Amino acid sequence: MKQVLVTGGAGFIGSHLCARLLEEGNDVICLDNYFTGSKANVIPLLRNPHFELIRHDVSKPFVAEVDEIYNLACPASPVYYQIDPIQTVKTSVLGAVNMLGLAKRLDAKILQASTSEVYGDPKIHPQPEKYWGNVNPIGPRSCYDEGKRCAETLFMDYHRQNKVRVKIVRVFNTYGPHMGTNDGRVVSNFIIQALQDKDLTIYGDGNQTRSFQYVDDLIEGMVRMMNTPDDFTGPVNIGNPGEFSINELARIVIRLTNSSSRIVYRPLPGDDPKQRRPDITLARERLGGWEPTICLEEGLKKTIAYFRSL
Ligand SMILES: NC(=O)c1ccc[n+]([C@@H]2O[C@H](COP(=O)([O-])OP(=O)(O)OC[C@H]3O[C@@H](n4cnc5c(N)ncnc54)[C@H](O)[C@@H]3O)[C@@H](O)[C@H]2O)c1
Repeated sequence: MKQVLVTGGAGFIGSHLCARLLEEGNDVICLDNYFTGSKANVIPLLRNPHFELIRHDVSKPFVAEVDEIYNLACPASPVYYQIDPIQTVKTSVLGAVNMLGLAKRLDAKILQASTSEVYGDPKIHPQPEKYWGNVNPIGPRSCYDEGKRCAETLFMDYHRQNKVRVKIVRVFNTYGPHMGTNDGRVVSNFIIQALQDKDLTIYGDGNQTRSFQYVDDLIEGMVRMMNTPDDFTGPVNIGNPGEFSINELARIVIRLTNSSSRIVYRPLPGDDPKQRRPDITLARERLGGWEPTICLEEGLKKTIAYFRSL
């Protein structure tokens, strides 16, 4: 049995990861300050004696005896990471320093949940890991994008300088049950609006594309990445290469919810990327043939069922 620390474990992705790690027979410590996550996401896990929940801000030092660390703590939706952008940078950067310091002391393996936002508004399509990105360092989204880029730098520097066993995954747009209801992410926004027969709000003309990954596929990729040989640090893209325009997504959600909602258009906020799609060649090669198995309609049906149940 391994002792595993999951920062941001009460969030959308973290709660699924904690459940999966417990199913595999590990002891799991979930650390979260509940900024965007919620105890409700992990309440079913609290019955498991191998699960422990700790309220803590990852930008402050934390000590526990663990074998592996998954570092997910960070608000992920623009609405929340822009509320207190300075804290967002601290969470990414100081959080990475604290967790890498812990991994160094314990000789623990550590995985960073990085993001496709490190590619910014990409000039290469689809995005392979070797692409360095096109990121605005001083815009309203920079606290998140540059915070995550700096965290990647720290991971690689701890690896080169201190021989810490690091893993970096670049997560592309992921959706599923436990997404926050008010966090402004497109899939949850559309589903909630459609279930209430309210207008679906599209920012811009809706022709911008995104690839949407169901959360179970991501969790499988993350766990496989943690188990790769020590000399493989990544970064590795984990996402679903199926590409859909926001207009298409809106129409599918309206159809699957049998909603009478209409689509309305609003001005596009600053620095919104026009296209995003992962090149997952490396993940296929290095993560034992990993690839997404859940298509958009199937994943949306599960997510709609979750939001209906709330
Ligand atoms: N969902 C996506 O599409 C996506 C895409 C790319 C990257 N990611 C990354 O995956 C991770 C999880 O994202 P998510 O979608 O589950 O978002 P989320 O907001 O649901 O989860 C983040 C969790 O981190 C916690 N947190 C925030 N600041 C903290 C702090 N200072 N100390 C301790 N806990 C803190 C929040 O309370 C929350 O539980 C994030 O690092 C995010 O950047 C997510």
